[in-house]
Amino acid sequence: MDLFRHCFTIVTFGLLIALSASVWAEESVDFRPHFDQVEQYRVTSDGGVVAADEPLASQIGADVLDAGGNAADAGVAAMLTLSVTNPASSGLGGGGFCLYRDAATEQTTALDFRETAPGAAHRDLYAVDGEVDHSLARHGGLAVATPGEPAGLWSLHGRFGELQWSEVIEPARKLAAQGHPISAPLANHLRNMEDTLDDWPELRQVFSDEEGQLLEEGDILVREDLARALAILAEEGVRPFYAGEIADAIVDAVQRHDGILSTEDLSSYALIPREPVVGEFEGYEIHAMPPPSSGGIALIQALNILTHLDAEADRHDPAYLHLVVEALKHAFADRAHWLGDADFIEIPTDKLLSDEYAEKLASRIDPDSVLDTYAYGTTPPDHEMAGTAHVSIIDGHDNMLACTTTINTRFGSLVFVPEYGLILNNEMADFNVEPGEPNIFGLIGNEQNAVEAKKRPLSSMSPTLVLENGRPALSIGASGGPMIISGVFFAILDILIHDVDPLDAITSHRIHHQWIPETLFVEADHLPFADELVARGHSVEARRIFSAVQLVFRNDDDWIGVTDPRKGGIPAAPDPDPDRQ
Ligand code: DON
Repeated sequence: MDLFRHCFTIVTFGLLIALSASVWAEESVDFRPHFDQVEQYRVTSDGGVVAADEPLASQIGADVLDAGGNAADAGVAAMLTLSVTNPASSGLGGGGFCLYRDAATEQTTALDFRETAPGAAHRDLYAVDGEVDHSLARHGGLAVATPGEPAGLWSLHGRFGELQWSEVIEPARKLAAQGHPISAPLANHLRNMEDTLDDWPELRQVFSDEEGQLLEEGDILVREDLARALAILAEEGVRPFYAGEIADAIVDAVQRHDGILSTEDLSSYALIPREPVVGEFEGYEIHAMPPPSSGGIALIQALNILTHLDAEADRHDPAYLHLVVEALKHAFADRAHWLGDADFIEIPTDKLLSDEYAEKLASRIDPDSVLDTYAYGTTPPDHEMAGTAHVSIIDGHDNMLACTTTINTRFGSLVFVPEYGLILNNEMADFNVEPGEPNIFGLIGNEQNAVEAKKRPLSSMSPTLVLENGRPALSIGASGGPMIISGVFFAILDILIHDVDPLDAITSHRIHHQWIPETLFVEADHLPFADELVARGHSVEARRIFSAVQLVFRNDDDWIGVTDPRKGGIPAAPDPDPDRQ
């Protein structure tokens, strides 16, 4: 069962399929988690903020800013801390994307350290007796793609960092060696995965006490294995990870679990610097991640479509919401049709981001009704929250960083490298392992995103930087599979266009549409605008929305960091600068 359907079944208990207008009038259920002491999720600073989806990661990033580091140094420290405190979501065994804006050169660089399919991978990798076995792309050795995170952090630091490499690694190494209390979200992941982890004893042991019981919230987790890997990286750089003792241990672990990752895959892994995709919207310049992320193109395409629509200013007006959702559906339909790894396939990026194309798609939108499924994008008619972490930083010099990293779903492939404490990703599941059929996030894709040797699977991760007249306005990104794109899209609209307070924007009920399934998901079963959306033909369903958005907003005076209470991170700022007025 794909993750999308799985989550939906659990959360809604099958009661809410195809909600009729009458159900919307009945008793209210709120699918947002309870937001306690909401103000803790905002910090206002006079000189930089780190917003990560776990409190210690933000704090360690802010400490690095205090020690004279810039956004790149703080970002590396925060992401490595996440690998210690939030190991279900991201880490050295995964990969990701970063956008970095250097204030001095005014250049934005996109770093692609996405995991890559092993050289022995092929289109029918997951076919067993003629049938595709999706579970093989989910857990076990065949799910593992070549990790990119160490190469990404090394490159981010090497290009832009100011402190010593070993200095930015040390806080995470120390935390791993000394231990830290297990957070509520990590305890939750462990509880949810308890039965599955029974089949993965090496991984289970990491999170178990001496009696073999899984650790709980507040228990101290010590990671000597991971501390060892971090010490090697601090001393020798990332080479041992890609060719040497750590590389050998990774290949050994994957092959013990029937995988195909080889030492050649690791030694040939390369970070790819890319040109960001750039769009303009209502006076803002949007810098976003190009393929193999789908996030940048989808986001800019949806915003472009909105510029051709007579969108009402009230963000809860059903007429406005209908137009916004229809724009998002066009973008997701084109994601399914066109996008994949641009080093392997042709992607008509210029066309997708052109004003003419946006105007054409906008003209198809009917203000009173949804369209037929295949009227979205250029698709021809023939045919839980777990993984991922995001760090946004704007430092006191206005260098901007947005990085999203992942091992994909909870604890990735579950394949564990015991010597070095590495949890290996299951990013192969982001391919459409059976073209035409949904992947684990319910995302449709075709041959463009089919498995191929050394290809990078299409991603929804959307680290994004927004500038206003060349000055920083917003660093933003999220976790949550396809809900990343809608989470970032709505936050940008709310904060920059509707002037909604950033914390209010993040804590508001969220909505999501990804074209297929043909369902508008909303985070409560009783929202004032729902009836009118149902009347326009939307099939509206209540469910838990598992995107978690982290951001730093910059106005003339302040840096305002906001983290998403859905995941429990807390933003942090360096100590106030006594010289700054
Ligand atoms: O790259 C992607 O789009 C996915 N691997 C992200 C996975 C994710 O966000 C999991 N979180 N819920």
